[in-house]
Parts: sequence; C-alpha cells; structure tokens
Amino acid sequence: MPRLHPEETAAPLVPRGGTYDDVRTAAAGCRACPLWTTGTQTVFGEGEVTSRLILVGEQPGDSEDRKGHPFVGPAGRVLDQALERAGIDRGDAYVTNVVKHFKWVAVGKRRLHQKPNAREIGACLPWLDAEIELIRPRVLVAMGATAAQALLGKEVLVTRDHGRFLPSNLAPFAMATTHPSAILRTETDEARQAALDAFVEDLRLVAAVLKEK
Ligand code: URA
Ligand code: SF4
Repeated sequence: MPRLHPEETAAPLVPRGGTYDDVRTAAAGCRACPLWTTGTQTVFGEGEVTSRLILVGEQPGDSEDRKGHPFVGPAGRVLDQALERAGIDRGDAYVTNVVKHFKWVAVGKRRLHQKPNAREIGACLPWLDAEIELIRPRVLVAMGATAAQALLGKEVLVTRDHGRFLPSNLAPFAMATTHPSAILRTETDEARQAALDAFVEDLRLVAAVLKEK
C-alpha cells in the first residue's frame, strides 16, 4: 500500500501520546476522507486494550454502521462461530477494521457494500496504526485481502498465504486469513462449510500461540 502524505490522512488528528480513549474520541470526529459522509458514524475497534489478539477486517458493514460496533452483523456471526470452534473467546480479542466508515451504494432499498479504495484505506490507516501501537498484540490476524495487503504487504494473497504466520513488525505472530464475508458469499453449502472449516483451522493455530505463556 503506497503511503499517502500524512496531511492527506487522519495522521494529524491522532492525539500524540494519547490514551486509548483519547484516540477513540478523536476518531469519532474524523473527516479525513470522504467516507465520513456515507457512513453514519465512525465504527472504531472494540475490546480490551490488554488483548493479546487483534482481529482486523475491512470496514464496517450495514449493521455495524447502524449499531456503531464492529462485526455485529452477518459477518460477525460467522466470526463468532469460527472463534468459538477454535476455542478463542471473542472477549479476549480486540476486533477492528482497516477503514472505520461504511462505504455503500443504494441498490433499491438496500445499502450495498463497496470496497474502499487505496486513498480511503491510506487515509484511515493511522487510526489502525494507533490501535495496534496501544494494544501491542501478540497475534495479529488480518481477515481478507484489504486487511492482509494493508498490514502485511501488497504481495500477500490470502488464498496462498493463509494458515501460517508471516513476518511482520506489527506483532510477534501475524497471519492473513479469509474474511468472514467471503464465507457468506460462497455459492453452495459444501463450499461454505469448507471455507468455514479452513477459517477455523487458521484460528486454531492462533489459539495455540495464544495459549503459550
Ligand atoms: N465486514 C468487515 O470487514 N468488518 C465489519 O465490521 C463487518 C463486516
Ligand atoms: Fe476518517 Fe477513516 Fe472515516 Fe475516512 S473512513 S473519515 S479516514 S475514520
């Protein structure tokens, strides 16, 4: 991801040396990219600052935008199910997204998710950088291509690189894996089951590392 000039991003808004609450409060008023106009509110990450695991998605979806919390819609239910099967308590994880506002287009009465572009991702990344810096997780899991490429390198391919830890200066253990929404988009029950099983397998490796010391 080519980094933008700091002035084109949320960087000047991130309170230097601020507490987690300071950062969160500042993010609530962010207008660093045009997505503040499409989203209802900033959907910041959630979880204990002491979490040893950070799970990163792409951006809030329709339900998240309405409720103001990450991964509380259909994708969140898939995530909850997978975490439970892997033996990870969601309460032990900090859950967040690369982009904090919902981007969508109206299709009839539905608000259809649209992928954030490189500029929007670059503008929003300082918030995620600040979250990671404050949490200093033992394990970082990037779910889907947007998070994987923004955090672990643009050459990362989730389909090829999932299921093993990749070198990263963001956390001692970092993994790219599928996005729960990709599991929902599969066309057959069999494909859905296989995709979910593979996601759970990846999360089991994460659970194993979390259990060490
Ligand atoms: N998809 C995401 O990437 N994040 C959410 O919070 C919900 C759906
Ligand atoms: Fe700020 Fe991110 Fe929202 Fe853009 S998407 S306005 S950078 S919080």
